[in-house]
Amino acid sequence: VSMPVPAVRSLIAGNWKMNGLKAASSELDAILEGAAQLSSGVDLLVCPPATLIAAFADRLAAHANSALPVAIGAQDCHTNAAGAHTGDISAEMLADAGARTIIVGHSERRADHAETDAIVRTKAQAVWRAGLVAIVCVGETQGERNAGHTLDVVAGQLAGSLPDGATAANLVVAYEPVWAIGTGMTPTAADVEEVHGFIRQTLTQRFNGEGERMRLLYGGSVKPSNASELMAVPHVNGALVGGASLKASDFLAIAAGC
Ligand code: G3P
Repeated sequence: VSMPVPAVRSLIAGNWKMNGLKAASSELDAILEGAAQLSSGVDLLVCPPATLIAAFADRLAAHANSALPVAIGAQDCHTNAAGAHTGDISAEMLADAGARTIIVGHSERRADHAETDAIVRTKAQAVWRAGLVAIVCVGETQGERNAGHTLDVVAGQLAGSLPDGATAANLVVAYEPVWAIGTGMTPTAADVEEVHGFIRQTLTQRFNGEGERMRLLYGGSVKPSNASELMAVPHVNGALVGGASLKASDFLAIAAGC
């Protein structure tokens, strides 16, 4: 698939998953210190567990260099704005706590909470309703890849999970092959290029010029030693990093590789 490669700012997003106590704010401080040294073409996003979002957002706001290209995000939200949903958190609440972006449709949510494409699409709309940016995750399992179904699976997830009205400003798409998450295994650069080129083509067909400029992140076992190779792949505009985002030095090294 050959599509023009747009010039967009890179985004390195850290998904802390269910990790991080209050003491981890020292990692955020280290990220804020290091962010000042990064090239001007990279944005950083830290998505801690919901319990830390307000504290992290306050810490970011209080930082001496308020112009840093760093934002705080969340890992999931409920579809509704408020109501009788014990234990759930709405996009509006996350926005109020200081989140600017919300990840939806991560494969761990799809697997652990039976989230369907339709649910993910409704969550992305909830993110927009709250005025935030949605990062929608897609990606095939090992079995689906082995069976040669990767592009079909990704096409189905994109069609089902992305609402109409997506723009380069309100949507980021993350390609995370399920088998590469937390395993130390990554697809080859050629495999990533094939899928990202396909995603770009699909987004451009549906969202025209907006689709050309949407940021496409690769996620799955990104670490300092493989980041530059993965980030150099056409139509890879950044990374969604799990394990390696928990350590500020690794997270910053990945961002430096952009
Ligand atoms: O959302 C990021 C994630 O699923 C990748 O995790 O630990 O393989 O970098 P990890």
